[in-house]
Amino acid sequence: MDDAAIPRTTAEPDLRDVVRWLTDQASGSPPATEQAITDGLDNHLISIVRSHNTPSTIWRFRAGQQAYVLKAQLGRGTVLRRELRWYLRAAAVGLPRGLFVVGQEGPAFTFLVLRQFGDTATLDDAALAGWTADNLHGHLRRAAAMNATLFRRTRRRVPVETVHRVAARRVAKRVAEGTSYPYLLPLLTGQTVTVNGRPLQGLARSWRDVVDRKSVVRLLTPAEIGLIFGDMHCGNILVDGSGTEVVDPRGGPLLPTAYDLGKLVQSVEGGYGAIMAGRYRLRCTAEDEYEIDVDTPPGYAALATWLHQGLGDHRYQQALYQAAQHFLAMLPHHASARRETVALALSGILQFERLREALAG
Ligand SMILES: Nc1ncnc2c1ncn2[C@@H]1O[C@H](COP(=O)(O)OP(=O)(O)OP(=O)(O)O)[C@@H](O)[C@H]1O
Ligand SMILES: [Mg+2]
Repeated sequence: MDDAAIPRTTAEPDLRDVVRWLTDQASGSPPATEQAITDGLDNHLISIVRSHNTPSTIWRFRAGQQAYVLKAQLGRGTVLRRELRWYLRAAAVGLPRGLFVVGQEGPAFTFLVLRQFGDTATLDDAALAGWTADNLHGHLRRAAAMNATLFRRTRRRVPVETVHRVAARRVAKRVAEGTSYPYLLPLLTGQTVTVNGRPLQGLARSWRDVVDRKSVVRLLTPAEIGLIFGDMHCGNILVDGSGTEVVDPRGGPLLPTAYDLGKLVQSVEGGYGAIMAGRYRLRCTAEDEYEIDVDTPPGYAALATWLHQGLGDHRYQQALYQAAQHFLAMLPHHASARRETVALALSGILQFERLREALAG
């Protein structure tokens, strides 16, 4: 990398050395290994953060006085490339760069370097550790405000049909992927899946009920899109005292704000973080009959009410629709972990039921 391409934040000589080494390795031809990166960080390394079900690996390292996070995806995978492009796009239009320091795409691996924020605790971690709603609330509000700033400065009006088409294509693709897992088939396409004693419909059926009704699609689909984080669930909101940052933005098409409000609803109402942390009990009581009890943190109950009130009924319904679709869309990515995926599918079914109630009520 030539010096001009190294942002001023890497003026710290120690960091400059690490970034040079990473850039060199990333552009090498053989695919790198995790071990080679760990070895290369040498005495800069603090720890490796094992995160969940993800194509990237995260290393914490120290350079000079500052702790950093290195996120790398080995080989030519696209997920981290999109994330890097999100940061570059935000910076190109003068938006805050958050924790981002530098990054590089390469054939051996793609990497990002971020400033480390706090001790890596997320809003989900805080909620699961029993923080009160009052303490959680400020972080949620700040994260939502950051997203609103991004959106305000990039938004544009588009036909509802355009927004709907992008969303529907994504869900249809994931339904097709999901149905290739035999155990998921009834949860997606079943006429009746009994959840905690309530006879409900399979996820894909509920989704079809919405998309087949033009007036409902129009009601639930916003006609404005812009740059947003694009994966702002409570496991991607970092907390440190009263400071808040959002990580793990998802590059891709511009999106409506309802998309990320849906991620928040998915966390605070749908128990997404609790399921990821294994904090749920699940029993299959008969064929297509389940009992599920998710330990959604008590602090989140008040946040769910706050979100609903703050958004008002209409925007809340739009967020709820997104939350239900998020549960549906993520199933194939989790499908190798069967129990967790069943829990996610059941939460999605319950979320569609809430949407039905909200639309009826
Ligand atoms: N800049 C940072 N400062 C502190 N902690 C961080 C930072 N970036 C990431 N982390 C920690 O690493 C975790 C995973 O990061 P991130 O969400 O970017 O990766 P991921 O591969 O998408 O993982 P996941 O699938 O868990 O979302 C975060 O939840 C957080 O705990
Ligand atoms: Mg994440």
